[in-house]
Amino acid sequence: MADTDSVGEINEIKLTDYSKTSGWAAKMGPDALAQVLRRVDFPVDKEKLIVGLENGDDAAVYKLSDEQYLIQTVDFFTPVVDDPYLFGQIAATNALSDIYAMGGTPILALNIVGFPNCLDNHILSDILQGGADKTRESGASLVGGHTVEDDEPKYGLAVSGIVSPENLLTNSGAKEGDVLILTKKIGIGIMVSAIKAGFQKSDNSNPAIQMMTKLNNQAVKHFSKYQINACTDITGFGLLGHIVELARGSNKEVEIETAEVPIIKEALNYAEMGLLPAGAYKNLRTFKDDLRDNGERDQLKLEVFFDPQTSGGLLISAAEEDASDLLIDLYGEGIDAAVIGRVNKGKQGVKLNW
Ligand code: CO
Ligand code: CO
Ligand code: CO
Repeated sequence: MADTDSVGEINEIKLTDYSKTSGWAAKMGPDALAQVLRRVDFPVDKEKLIVGLENGDDAAVYKLSDEQYLIQTVDFFTPVVDDPYLFGQIAATNALSDIYAMGGTPILALNIVGFPNCLDNHILSDILQGGADKTRESGASLVGGHTVEDDEPKYGLAVSGIVSPENLLTNSGAKEGDVLILTKKIGIGIMVSAIKAGFQKSDNSNPAIQMMTKLNNQAVKHFSKYQINACTDITGFGLLGHIVELARGSNKEVEIETAEVPIIKEALNYAEMGLLPAGAYKNLRTFKDDLRDNGERDQLKLEVFFDPQTSGGLLISAAEEDASDLLIDLYGEGIDAAVIGRVNKGKQGVKLNW
């Protein structure tokens, strides 16, 4: 195909038609994955590994020296939008997020690519350019990667980051009295389903796409001024799945004010129509035993709280006295942050105030 006449055809291709499931919905279920991992014996340098598999944290952390830790993570998935450049941006933003969720700075990234040979390779260039531009915005270098032929397009990054020990954040450090702040609305997975079904635009006017391409670094750069005790990003397990993991890891009760959880308006409408990704139900089944209701449960909202997010926001567990100043900083960055709950002493688990 010549460069000039290929353009029209490329624009007509719906990238999401080439994937059976989209984004984080394509992730293996947490129960099945846990089963698989239990059977495997992984090598670990116990002296130097600071964060490993045990608490389901966002990334692994390895001690390089007393002053510096290495953070390592990998994420990739099938198209969540039709525009290749936007898909690349979203996949990279999502992969880089796990470094931010640990309080770190990304330094080096590698592409992971699956690509069908029936598609024009200009599409792949656009995907990679999207990933490259987001990585540039993060300040990290993108230095190669690995590409295989595949039935479905797949893209993501393996990312290395650094963090000093005093800035490291895990999902197991939440303290009694902490205020929980969420930096992006939820419902992204539902919006992705709506894009795939053709109900929603697959361009920058879509609020979910604006959120998925927004790096989580803008929040993290303010952390050093405050007492932040725990952090995680909201991705495949949905808001409540990640909150359950934080409650388990920190051995605390987390109390959520369900009315305060910000949800993309259109996503709630689609959920009422029954357009919820299967992953939401899988997550609910996995984590339901950790939930306690205070008041009459809204089943639909509960399912939305388990909607698997692609490139979701950060959940920050901040000391109560610092929460309002941090919020002002986040608003100043144009981040739609919301206080959604707090950390209590009580019995480990998640209490939902309806
Ligand atoms: Co994560
Ligand atoms: Co991840
Ligand atoms: Co973390």
